[in-house]
Amino acid sequence: MSKVGHELKVKELKTVFSQEQIAERVQELAAEIDACYGQEPLVAICVLKGGFVFFSDLVRALQNKNLELDFVRLSSYGKGASSSKHVIFSKDVEIDICDKHVLIVEDIVDSGHSMRFLLGQFAARKARSLRLAALVDKNERREIDVHVDFAGFKLTQGFIVGYGLDYAEHYRNLPAVFEIIPE
Ligand code: IMP
Ligand code: MG
Repeated sequence: MSKVGHELKVKELKTVFSQEQIAERVQELAAEIDACYGQEPLVAICVLKGGFVFFSDLVRALQNKNLELDFVRLSSYGKGASSSKHVIFSKDVEIDICDKHVLIVEDIVDSGHSMRFLLGQFAARKARSLRLAALVDKNERREIDVHVDFAGFKLTQGFIVGYGLDYAEHYRNLPAVFEIIPE
């Protein structure tokens, strides 16, 4: 038993996606992304903090030599863990994305509110094209119909950590993805 963030008592971390599975899937996604853009100029945008591990593995697997990288961070306010979320930038991109191909790289799409906000923002700035890569496409709590163009894994339920994903800022450094089993 261990205690995280003074609240959740974690009984067990159960492996959901192993390091080997993730590494293999990241290579496959990179090949799909390369097939989509070739050597076209592309801006890959990491959604902090959770996307950082996936992003760093993914961009290093791409063959595209015309790749620019940038980062955003989002904050959401809402009642508890569920719906009616209001999303804002707590860090915006620094590159001008107007008329550029943009690939958003996110850790997990859950309700869809965060990605609706980001896709809307980038569309308004007239990105030439806009696609979304997410390590995990989790549909149990989906409220907004967001299409994930490059999905690493699909998951129906469960709260997962590791490979960038956190619970109360913990576990981001774990090399694989685990489900939290509470006490
Ligand atoms: P959405 O706006 O509900 O789609 O929120 C997605 C964000 O919530 C993700 O970028 C994660 O930061 C966080 N999140 C959702 N599900 C999980 C999970 O299972 N583990 C860790 N973070 C999660
Ligand atoms: Mg995230």
